Amino acid sequence: MTTFPIGLDRSAGTSLSAQIYRAIRQAIETGQLVAGARLPSWVDLATQLGVSRGTVRVAYERLIDEQFAVVMGAAGTRVAERPPLRPKLGWSPEAPPFPELFHDFGATPLPFQMGVPAQDEFPFKLWSRVLTRAARRAAMSPVGYPDPRGDPDLRKEVAAYLGVARGLRCNPSQVLITAGFSGALGLAIRGLGLEGQQAWIEDPGFPLTRTALGLAGMTVKAVPVDADGLDVDAGIRDSAGAALAVVTPGQQAPLGMAMSLPRRLALLEWARRNDAWIIEDDYLSELQLKGRAAPALASLDQDGRVLHIGSFSKTISPVLRLGFLVVPLEMAHRFGEITACLMPAPTTFMQHAVAEFLRDGHYLRHLRHMKRLYASRRDALLRCLAEIGPNTMKVQATAGTAVVTLLPESVSDVDVALRAFQSGLAPVPLSPWYVESSRLRGLLLGVTNLNERRMAADCRRLVELIHASS
Ligand SMILES: Cc1ncc(COP(=O)(O)O)c(C=O)c1O
Repeated sequence: MTTFPIGLDRSAGTSLSAQIYRAIRQAIETGQLVAGARLPSWVDLATQLGVSRGTVRVAYERLIDEQFAVVMGAAGTRVAERPPLRPKLGWSPEAPPFPELFHDFGATPLPFQMGVPAQDEFPFKLWSRVLTRAARRAAMSPVGYPDPRGDPDLRKEVAAYLGVARGLRCNPSQVLITAGFSGALGLAIRGLGLEGQQAWIEDPGFPLTRTALGLAGMTVKAVPVDADGLDVDAGIRDSAGAALAVVTPGQQAPLGMAMSLPRRLALLEWARRNDAWIIEDDYLSELQLKGRAAPALASLDQDGRVLHIGSFSKTISPVLRLGFLVVPLEMAHRFGEITACLMPAPTTFMQHAVAEFLRDGHYLRHLRHMKRLYASRRDALLRCLAEIGPNTMKVQATAGTAVVTLLPESVSDVDVALRAFQSGLAPVPLSPWYVESSRLRGLLLGVTNLNERRMAADCRRLVELIHASS
């Protein structure tokens, strides 16, 4: 029988049984009590410590429940066989650094930041009313499992919206609600069974898509874009065997052009002939600042090769983490099964809120308002750049909700962006968006969070940083 000292403190805030439990557990974890060692009987230990048997029993029962000790009939209660507790190699209390791509989690958007809506014009009052109603509805919902494909009301609203605004006729069973574009991309790759195969991406293109495809087990082939969008012939020439193309046909990210009709048809034809798939990243939806947005590529698809992804990140807020995937009708069943087993839709509460926002017409009004606001901020920025830095930051294009500027060749855009960040500005360097095509150096200047009073000073600061790096 093993004996070891247990010091009890009757004035401590913890119960005596908890103190006995902790002392024995510590003795086991530090190796003072080895596997197989017999613990004293309740009666003996109770007498030794001057406590009731019940107190010892409670401590022993907890040790047995947590698998530190085992009852072995006549052989008594013994220390269980368990691996010794060793500090994990390389473990540190500090969190490991997160990839740089994500440095601004949860922060208020900065001037020139891309991909986030206007903070100062977000419809807070309206949105909190909508959220309150959605919270009440969610609280009163039946406690059963919600539809893993997404809230039926939201799927109906999304299908109706796509028909009107993106020319895409689909029925709600084809719409799956996801955690934004990223969630939809993961679901699409899993659903199509594309792991291990090759995907075309646009060059330049959204860096997160490139990383995401790699993480999903695909190899990527960067295909150049020109004024018409993805160069399909170049893709066929360099990697005809790809199984997937991920494109931004509405407004190319980051250069902004819409994919021309002949290119759309060529891409669809390539997919048809090769049994390949197209993922359409419609991240801005109809949020186009000049003219009308071209219809979705998926609206031209006769052969069921296009999976369309939309997101509420730019049109409402990335805080929602909501988007949707529209699959060809014949795949709706398979994708439904995958959402049920592997990737269910996000919380229904937020889905109820977005469904109401769409149903009551707030979404279309909000989009109209944002288009006007962003167009006026973009025009003010263009005027400012023309006055302050026409030779330092050359405006190459207005693209989506950003202005693309080119820098002199001797300047590192990554370096300028890093320094700008230290000054509270968040332009995005252009060169990391390229993979193989000759990398242009430039800054992508998001227009959504510009403040007209500060704009001239902010542009001047960028010009100073560029001069300092050349
Ligand atoms: C090209 C592109 N696609 C998709 C997204 C949206 O992703 P999510 O819906 O995951 O926020 C973004 C956002 O920056 C983007 O720039």
